[in-house]
Amino acid sequence: MPNLNSKIPLSLYVHYPFCKHKCPYCDFYSIVKPHDSRVDLDYVTRLICEFKDYQKFLAGRKFISCFFGGGTPSLLSVEALELLFKEISPYFAKDCEITFEVNPGTLKKDFLKALKDVGVNRISLGAQSFNDEKLKALGRIHRAKAIFEALELIKDDFRVNLDLMHALPLQTHKEALEDLKTAIDTGVEHISWYELTLEEGTPFYDKPPLIYLDNDHKALLDEEGFALLKENGFSHYEVSAFTRKRRCLHNENYWRFGDYLGLGAGAHGKISLEDGILRTQNIDEVKTYLKEKAQFTTLTFDNDLEDLIFEYMLNRLRLFERCEFKELLFYLGLDNLPQSLNDTLHKAQDLGLVHLDPQGFEVSPRGHELLSDLMILFLPS
Ligand SMILES: C[S@@+](CC[C@H](N)C(=O)[O-])C[C@H]1O[C@@H](n2cnc3c(N)ncnc32)[C@H](O)[C@@H]1O
Ligand code: SF4
Repeated sequence: MPNLNSKIPLSLYVHYPFCKHKCPYCDFYSIVKPHDSRVDLDYVTRLICEFKDYQKFLAGRKFISCFFGGGTPSLLSVEALELLFKEISPYFAKDCEITFEVNPGTLKKDFLKALKDVGVNRISLGAQSFNDEKLKALGRIHRAKAIFEALELIKDDFRVNLDLMHALPLQTHKEALEDLKTAIDTGVEHISWYELTLEEGTPFYDKPPLIYLDNDHKALLDEEGFALLKENGFSHYEVSAFTRKRRCLHNENYWRFGDYLGLGAGAHGKISLEDGILRTQNIDEVKTYLKEKAQFTTLTFDNDLEDLIFEYMLNRLRLFERCEFKELLFYLGLDNLPQSLNDTLHKAQDLGLVHLDPQGFEVSPRGHELLSDLMILFLPS
């Protein structure tokens, strides 16, 4: 049985499940925000209760990062924001990275000031595209002008990530690269460049829009996009993440298989304890989540080593960085490399997907291209 220890870095994720409008491609859990003046205070009150419930598992550990995702957390009221931070801020480590997801169509100056005052230091701006027709086709509530205005307001006070999607409805190769160039020219330090995926259960999945780029075009676009980012000083450190300064500490902690406490409707968490991993999964239904006594969380102590290794690999292989066995053993709470893992790594090496040596391994360029094939090798037998 792995010996999991509490030295593993711990992050906090807070899910805000409301949006102004539901985008037809999005399968993140969110609903249209009700017109009820109590909604934010009720939600935050529940978040605080949940946070207090988890204290017993944290044993004084502090958060290295905190991420407010959604939904559209930038719709939160200032009053509710301040109430929540009063409770959670004492648990932030020094230099804690605190990120807020912001939809450019929702930004208000007083809210930004409040974010700064409570200690938020990073904003992830959901730009998606700088082309108004594409934004319209994506069902976004904002146009390109709002993205530039938002950037003007935030650039001096926060580190900024910009979310951009490509392979959009009716988007040409040239337009996708123009979007990326515009994102680079804004001067932001971090870009997340996602390929639009058609997610089951969304209107785009049920009635797919016309996407011009086929798989060969997408591969070529990736190649050119990565080169453009590189030329402009961005390092590609994860499948979709690029930075010219600092990485996103919060996401990096997930990819390294760090711990995270997940608060809010639909959120999940992973906390390493002495004898296993505590998993939590909250119901993705705001009404039920708000009822304090409802059965909203599942706790499981998952000690199955093969499953843990698979999950570790699913995350860690996304990072474009050599993995030392020392690091792997630490996050999995092990003393020695299991024989089955050693065998699979040799198999991956024989297939040309990783470079292996006695201290660790690195995903090869072919392994990056065939990442899902590489991941599947680690599936429990
Ligand atoms: C939780 S979402 C959005 C944050 C914020 N609500 C917004 O829309 O501006 C985080 C990011 O995931 C990306 N995303 C959402 N759905 C996607 C999809 N189907 N395919 C690719 N990327 C997606 C978008 O870039 C989005 O900004
Ligand atoms: S993309 Fe953002 S704004 Fe659109 S529905 Fe999803 S979470 Fe809400």
